[in-house]
Formats: sequence, C-alpha cells, structure tokens
Amino acid sequence: MIELSVTKLNKRFGGLHVLKDVSFDVKGAELVGLIGPNGAGKTTLTNILDGAIKPNSGTVYLNHHRIDQMPPFEVAKTGLGRTFQVTRSFRRMSVLENLYVPALALDTEHTKAEIHDKSMEVLEFLTMEHLRNEYGQALSGGQQKLLELGRLLMLNPQVIILDEPFAGVHPKLMEIIYRYIERVNQSGTAIILISHQMDSIFSLCNRLLVLNYGDLIADGTPDDVKRDPAVIEAYLGTDEEDEA
Ligand SMILES: Nc1ncnc2c1ncn2[C@@H]1O[C@H](COP(=O)(O)OP(=O)(O)OP(=O)(O)O)[C@@H](O)[C@H]1O
Ligand SMILES: [Mg+2]
Repeated sequence: MIELSVTKLNKRFGGLHVLKDVSFDVKGAELVGLIGPNGAGKTTLTNILDGAIKPNSGTVYLNHHRIDQMPPFEVAKTGLGRTFQVTRSFRRMSVLENLYVPALALDTEHTKAEIHDKSMEVLEFLTMEHLRNEYGQALSGGQQKLLELGRLLMLNPQVIILDEPFAGVHPKLMEIIYRYIERVNQSGTAIILISHQMDSIFSLCNRLLVLNYGDLIADGTPDDVKRDPAVIEAYLGTDEEDEA
C-alpha cells in the first residue's frame, strides 16, 4: 500500500520561514487537495517532496524509503512525480520525444519499443495523438500542461503532485485534465492536487490540507475544512465576504 509520510518539515529562505513543522500522511490512493493563499508554501513543499530542494529539518518517507535527501531523479524512481506550476517541456523535442525522455533515462525494465507503445497510449489518453510530432515550443500553455501530465505517467508513479494544473488552461482542456485526475486516481495513484480553483478542489478531493504562511492549519474532509474557523479566517473567509 502507498504510504507517504511527511514529518515536521521546516524550510527557511534566509529570514523567511516558509514551512513550519509541517506533518501529514497520505495512505493509499487518496486524492488530497492542498490549498492556501499565494505564498503559503505549497510549491516549496512540492519542491521538497520531489527532491528539488532540501528541508532545513524534518523527513519525508515514501513506502518506508527516506526521500528528502535524494536527488529528484532518485525520487522519481522511488515512485513520486510532480508537475510544475510553470511548465517545463523540452522545447526543441517533439511531443513524443518529450515522453520518451523520463522513461529512457530512468526505466530500465522496458524496451524502447515498449516505451514507444506506452507513449502512444498516454497521448491517446490525453487526446494528443495528433500533436505527437510537434515541437514542445509549438504547444499552447494548456497543451504543455497536458504533456507534463502525460510525462508523469511514463514512470508509473505511486504518488503525483499536480501544482496548479488548471491555471491558465482553456475550458476544453480543463475537462481533459479533470478526467485525467479522476482516472489516474481510480487506477491506484495517490494525488496531491494544488489549486486555487475551489470548485475543482471541492468536487474532486475527499480530503484537504490547508497551508497558511507555512503552518498546516487544517487536514480533514472538505466539509470539516469549510467549517473550520481557522481556515475561514485565514483563507476561505475572504471569498464568503466577497460573495456577501
Ligand atoms: N527560492 C526561494 N528563495 C527565496 N524565497 C522563496 C523561494 N521560493 C519561494 N520563496 C518564498 O517562499 C514563500 C512561499 O512560496 P511558494 O511558492 O511555496 O508559495 P505557494 O503557496 O506555492 O504560492 P502560489 O499560490 O502563489 O503559487 C513566498 O514568500 C516565496 O516568495
Ligand atoms: Mg505555488
């Protein structure tokens, strides 16, 4: 069973204390929303979980392997993948080659032909087969987001963290991303979904984590989190006031 265990993570950038004793577990194929205002520390947490930056203290274990001191490629091999808030495709490679890269670099179990077949399956899943020979740089922002989501699947991850997958995406592509999240989760992958789009968060997730300037102020069902006074004051309250 999938088990991601985050314990007392602290991250400081100079005098700025961006994550303060953040602890939570993800057990099994949960679909967990991670919300919080701009600057709350969501992307910093993601960067620590995927090994891009190191915490000042605390630990992260994935299925009992300690991953917080590993470089990102080792973390990816251990089974955790992430997308980027600002997309990062290989601009001068084709869409298909973009999918080959992680598998050719890290997957020693499959042949090149198998990796090609898997890439085609992933493109079909994302309704992007017609774009397979386009360069990364020719894609729209939304299509680049889809490509990143596809790239994640190439390594059969157990846990994926999606950093604002809906931001700036055309409504038609949003539907595809929405379906991706549902289907990938149902196939047994745990997902941590970061988004400012509360409609999507509340309809997709059965558990929410709320970060507020480095403090994890809530961890519970969407209904509990909506009613949590600390969350209303820190975050959701502003929406309700706006609507009043
Ligand atoms: N490399 C860095 N050096 C210095 N400060 C940083 C660095 N990365 C992030 N920060 C600061 O840490 C805080 C948390 O940033 P982070 O990007 O993690 O927030 P976020 O919750 O993802 O926000 P958003 O919703 O806007 O994406 C911010 O104040 C940010 O300016
Ligand atoms: Mg962010």
